[in-house]
Amino acid sequence: MKRILMLFISLSMMLCLSACSDSAAPAEKSSVQTESIDLQTTSEDKILSESEADVSVPDNENFENPDETNSENHSKILVAFFSRTGENYGVDVIEKGNTHIIADMIAEEMNADTFEIVRVTPYPEAYRDCTDEAQEEKTANARPELTAAVENFDDYDIIFLGYPNWWGDMPMPVYTFIESYDFSGKTVIPFCTHGGSRLSGTVQTLRDKLENAEVLDGFEIEGTTAQNKQDEAREAVLSWLEKLDIAK
Ligand SMILES: Cc1cc2nc3c(=O)[nH]c(=O)nc-3n(C[C@H](O)[C@H](O)[C@H](O)COP(=O)(O)O)c2cc1C
Repeated sequence: MKRILMLFISLSMMLCLSACSDSAAPAEKSSVQTESIDLQTTSEDKILSESEADVSVPDNENFENPDETNSENHSKILVAFFSRTGENYGVDVIEKGNTHIIADMIAEEMNADTFEIVRVTPYPEAYRDCTDEAQEEKTANARPELTAAVENFDDYDIIFLGYPNWWGDMPMPVYTFIESYDFSGKTVIPFCTHGGSRLSGTVQTLRDKLENAEVLDGFEIEGTTAQNKQDEAREAVLSWLEKLDIAK
């Protein structure tokens, strides 16, 4: 009987120990699990927030930058030019003027509008006759009438202004043109084709006459190059435009 009682007590103790250890184990497990869940949650949160940031930053960059470029950097550009066809210096008879060729290259590269400055009375086809008439017009400081006007001139921020060198000066129709508009706050970029005299004093003349505009240094190229070596001319134009660093 005593033995049976001892056996019963032992069994009871074993059962009790087993029950106690079972109830302790989940508690311990739970705390580890909680910790591991916490850790996991924390690192997942971090990963999520990082990936969210990764997604949102480039998205914003891609979305915002074009708008910024459009609203802040993009300029409306006009290429206004005078040019003459017919017999010309070193190029025989031409159907598209030397300055016109350069103007089109600039406009194409800059996504700009173009405007041709045209005198109401055409200049003579023959070179000598034209030089004579141009000289008379310059001596008279004439302002010949033009066939058309730029309707929305105020909309333009940048005006490329092209002309041939005539008697060391701009042709008089270009004077009519610049005196027809308010250039205040505009950027004027002269370009010129010539037979050897380059820009002469035309950039300074423009600076004197367009006091409220910023007149940049001009670009010059020989008329014969513009007409007969257009690949070379385009290369020179593009490398000049690149240096100007204007957003198109
Ligand atoms: C009336 C007239 C005057 C000119 N005077 C000069 C001049 O003083 N210096 C010069 O280098 N070239 C002079 N040239 C040559 C032109 O500047 C050159 O041929 C120019 O490329 C012509 O451009 P266009 O075809 O766009 O009119 C003159 C040409 C003409 C028709």
